[in-house]
Amino acid sequence: MGYRIVVAGATGNVGREMLNILAERQFPVDEIAAVASSRSQGEVIDFGDSGKTLKVQNIENFDPTGWDIALFAIGSEATKLHAPRFAAAGCTVIDNSSLYRMDPDVPLIVPEVNPEAIAGYVKRNIIANPNCSTAQMVVALKPLHDFAKIKRVVVATYQSVSGAGKAGMDELFEQSRNIFVGDSAEAKTFTKQIAFNVIPHIDSFLEDGSTKEEWKMVVETKKILDPKIKVTATCVRVPVFVGHSEAINIEFENEISAAQAKRILREAPGIMLVDKHEDGGYVTPVECVGDYATFISRVREDSTVDNGLSLWCVSDNLRKGAALNAVQIAELLGRRHLKKAA
Ligand SMILES: NC(=O)c1ccc[n+]([C@@H]2O[C@H](COP(=O)([O-])OP(=O)(O)OC[C@H]3O[C@@H](n4cnc5c(N)ncnc54)[C@H](OP(=O)(O)O)[C@@H]3O)[C@@H](O)[C@H]2O)c1
Repeated sequence: MGYRIVVAGATGNVGREMLNILAERQFPVDEIAAVASSRSQGEVIDFGDSGKTLKVQNIENFDPTGWDIALFAIGSEATKLHAPRFAAAGCTVIDNSSLYRMDPDVPLIVPEVNPEAIAGYVKRNIIANPNCSTAQMVVALKPLHDFAKIKRVVVATYQSVSGAGKAGMDELFEQSRNIFVGDSAEAKTFTKQIAFNVIPHIDSFLEDGSTKEEWKMVVETKKILDPKIKVTATCVRVPVFVGHSEAINIEFENEISAAQAKRILREAPGIMLVDKHEDGGYVTPVECVGDYATFISRVREDSTVDNGLSLWCVSDNLRKGAALNAVQIAELLGRRHLKKAA
């Protein structure tokens, strides 16, 4: 016996990937509903490669009573309106927006890192999915932290435009085409031209000069992994369609060599180590698209600090950074907490 699943935001980048991944992983689904805004009501979309199609329903008219799990990817504003209604009707919400991530009564889960924290979902019947940059980083940090205890992390991100939804992908495509034919490159979704450029600004600015995206990496890493870890981040948007990259520098309390780190990472869940000291012996974002893994390359010792390591981390932001992590949470919830067997 399977579950009755709702995918909210099914017409978006993350929603579409959630449908693909539910089908790929043969999640035990008895019934599935695709919901979005009134704009896409009646549209017909694929349930991954299952051969089934789904008619999109308007979330405003959708009654969640009797549905088991809702995977939400509709942005914070719409989530605020609908998640409490779904949760109160007994349908557990797994949310991709930032709305509930730092709520002490909502667990923030990366299944490879803090699966035990999921038990806290009963307080609000809501589980939060972390920010895409945080998700892949904590997968990489967790096994190293277990071995040598991380003191401080310095990270610079290279984030793809799909992190800003369909509109971000369209803007990179249109600007690139316009520039080639000599037209102007108007910026709408991003604050400056993104084609053939990089922008050191994601989300809004905070009083201390950092951005909300950078703040999310700091506070979410503490909530998921360890409140004692210090994190400083610089988040940058780059003209890549899908796949976030991160240059991560880590300072540990205890000794750890690059060789030890590689051995640990090779065995760690969710990680694929690709690290050859030769041309092309590392992973780039175009190679991670459509994959489940968090790829690690360029692991090396940093001799400028005691017990320091640097590494390169790449993952599909629509998958581990959002849809895959949400489906893994649903699998964990099914195994540990819901009555039907997942
Ligand atoms: N992209 C990423 O890497 C990433 C990573 C982590 C988390 N997230 C989060 O996931 C969410 C979705 O991101 P995305 O990249 O999939 O965006 P997107 O491609 O722009 O898609 C947005 C989806 O939300 C739906 N939606 C918008 N307003 C709605 C409303 N008022 N009521 C119901 N549905 C509404 C849209 O439906 P219509 O088609 O009907 O407009 C569409 O299905 C956001 O909260 C984002 O922060 C994204």
